[in-house]
Amino acid sequence: MTILIRGGTIVTAEQTYRGDVLCVDGKIAQIGEGLDAPTGAKIIDAGGQYVMPGGIDPHTHMQLPFMGTVASEDFYTGTAAAMAGGTTSIIDFVIPDPQQNIMEAYRTWRGWAEKSAADYGFHVAITWWDESVSKDMETLVREEGVNSFKHFMAYKGAIMADDEILYNSFSRALTLGAMPTVHAENGELVFQLQKKLIEEGITGPEGHPLSRPPAAEGEAANRALRLAEVIGVPLYIVHVSASDALEEIKRARSAGQRVYGEVLAGHLMIDDSVYRHPDWDVAAAHVMSPPFRSPEHQAALWKGLQSGHLHTTATDHCCFCADQKGMGRDNFAQIPNGTAGVEDRLSVLWTHGVGTGRLTPNEFVAVTSANTAKIFNIYPQKGAVSVGADADLIIWDPEASKTISVKTHHQNVDYNIFEGMEVKGLASHTLSRGTLTYKDGDLRAVKGAGQYVKRPAFPASFDALAKQAALNKATPVKRP
Ligand code: URP
Ligand code: ZN
Ligand code: ZN
Repeated sequence: MTILIRGGTIVTAEQTYRGDVLCVDGKIAQIGEGLDAPTGAKIIDAGGQYVMPGGIDPHTHMQLPFMGTVASEDFYTGTAAAMAGGTTSIIDFVIPDPQQNIMEAYRTWRGWAEKSAADYGFHVAITWWDESVSKDMETLVREEGVNSFKHFMAYKGAIMADDEILYNSFSRALTLGAMPTVHAENGELVFQLQKKLIEEGITGPEGHPLSRPPAAEGEAANRALRLAEVIGVPLYIVHVSASDALEEIKRARSAGQRVYGEVLAGHLMIDDSVYRHPDWDVAAAHVMSPPFRSPEHQAALWKGLQSGHLHTTATDHCCFCADQKGMGRDNFAQIPNGTAGVEDRLSVLWTHGVGTGRLTPNEFVAVTSANTAKIFNIYPQKGAVSVGADADLIIWDPEASKTISVKTHHQNVDYNIFEGMEVKGLASHTLSRGTLTYKDGDLRAVKGAGQYVKRPAFPASFDALAKQAALNKATPVKRP
């Protein structure tokens, strides 16, 4: 299929310029002004609009089995909704049960993802440890194109990784050239606070943020960062929600550690008052971890994104409908954790980032697409508008507007945390590997059209770090 996008302004993380983009067989074949249309090419007029790399959401959980239920959005519905909002790739998570064979879990998730409409990759969670896990990490990196491993420092009694697991897995990741990532919350503290709050009779969703204070996130971020520092491995911290964690990232970065922070559109926009909503269902619909925070934390997150201490934006798209949330009606700790957003991230960030002057359009591309591609080593195949790159593109109409609503969204969930938000700046067209998947309200996502994207390890830079770590190893003192 050949498509010529004509008359738009190309916006990448680095540049803004006028140009046409010719897409042939899924790739960008040519960029320039006044390009001729090859015979049979479909022409899209992008006059007055921006042509940008499609969004990459580095943090989604499609059809995740979690907290006794399964997330309502599957790989097809979720990626189709993503395309309606201009996101063309996701990185989801394989989350093995403790003691479950890692490769078996990986194959299960790969099977589920075959119906994906958008391109996808996987971070693989390390939830337990033995020699087989170490071996499987190698297979995943060397043969399967997995270059990141996730560690949940929360969810005690389920998928929580203790310090021993963190130490072993971070060390292994270093030798393999893979990136460790963490969900930073002190799981023991959260567990104890949940127990205490329930005993005191606080059973509703208002107990959720009380059981997960910012300090619990700051402590875990610091612990993970310090472990990474000693081991000599880079670290990516997912869904940074509190200034406590952000301050730890700033400290580590200024001390020379290679650390990356991710922030969710939800954490930037929604504050913790939602948990005191008089309607239990509304309050429960916002239960996710870490929880939404006070406006002071939100302001700090925006500054972190603007100043470059936070690098990527994501959604942690993990949908549970009201009946599923109802599993925790008598105990907030049993409300399935997760909220949606994969469809809305770009328009929310454009409106509240670019529209307010916090971000330039180039910075918008960096934090919604290019930085993720760079950090997870798929740049410039993804995250770029350049010859040879995948033709994952959005045509962005900065004048188009809408009101976000559950009534009109494509996400397979019965609540939208951005309900009623007016957004200005929308994808008018989405192209996935050179195929038009969304056009002005017409969603044409194709089940199974998405491809698995291999992400190579980072040999050169990690080698240097491995050598450094080896240098730091103590040598025994030879005594007579
Ligand atoms: O509440 C959340 N975030 N649910 C999904 C699992 C996780 O912690 O990322
Ligand atoms: Zn998490
Ligand atoms: Zn998550």
